[in-house]
Amino acid sequence: MPLLEVADVSVRFGGHMAVEAATLSADAGSVTGLIGPNGAGKTTLFNVICGLVSPVHGRVRFDGDDITGTSTHQRARRGLARTFQRLELFGSLTVLENLQVAAEIPRRERRAPVATRVDAAVEQCGLGPFLHRRADVITTGQARLVELARALVTEPRMLLADEPASGLDSSETEHFGDLLARLAADGLGVLLVEHDVSLVMKVCSRISVLDYGKVIATGTPAEVRADQRVVQAYLGVPVEAPT
Ligand SMILES: Nc1ncnc2c1ncn2[C@@H]1O[C@H](COP(=O)(O)OP(=O)(O)OP(=O)(O)O)[C@@H](O)[C@H]1O
Ligand SMILES: [Mg+2]
Repeated sequence: MPLLEVADVSVRFGGHMAVEAATLSADAGSVTGLIGPNGAGKTTLFNVICGLVSPVHGRVRFDGDDITGTSTHQRARRGLARTFQRLELFGSLTVLENLQVAAEIPRRERRAPVATRVDAAVEQCGLGPFLHRRADVITTGQARLVELARALVTEPRMLLADEPASGLDSSETEHFGDLLARLAADGLGVLLVEHDVSLVMKVCSRISVLDYGKVIATGTPAEVRADQRVVQAYLGVPVEAPT
């Protein structure tokens, strides 16, 4: 059974269907990609999954439980975490303080103490060199890592990452991809929205493609890359397979 299941979800903004009958799933222990053109509905679907937007139709299940009507806090307590497309760190707090605030979020199960979880995330994400700097003076690359760490201190089971490599240079992006792959290898489920196609193709075991709110393809990176509808809607010229 997949850890996260989105079944037949539709979202309407006024007269506009931002998401239409979307079905997808994401497993623990792997990175699942969600790609598609600007405005396709990827962030809206993330908002449905974490409870910020109510669908007009469809269900969201987590670990077999229907969580459709539950609050964002209830979902966080179950182990759903996310990062945001636009960075949302507390600028006047240090990196460490940003993590400490996030680590206080209550969970259903008993967890390690705040300091232990913060130390682990600092180590995993390599935040040591700028841990005591204010979040509004660090680089975008560093801020993306802090945002990831801020999600990790909650010890999530599933991480929704919305364009986490946006604003990063190619070596930072590669480093970020390796980090996501390592976290997944340790058991975390990751649902990744990302426009950097080579990153997506490299780290994802499965990919769903959204176009105008509809899932037009789901499969392995190789299957999605070869899908003519996906090529037309999003990829354009074929992308080289990672070596
Ligand atoms: N709060 C809102 N109210 C009205 N329309 C919205 C709202 N949020 C998103 N939309 C519209 O819904 C559609 C999907 O937007 P969404 O942000 O989910 O796309 P996206 O796939 O994340 O795009 P991008 O790749 O640019 O981030 C777009 O047409 C957008 O304009
Ligand atoms: Mg978006």
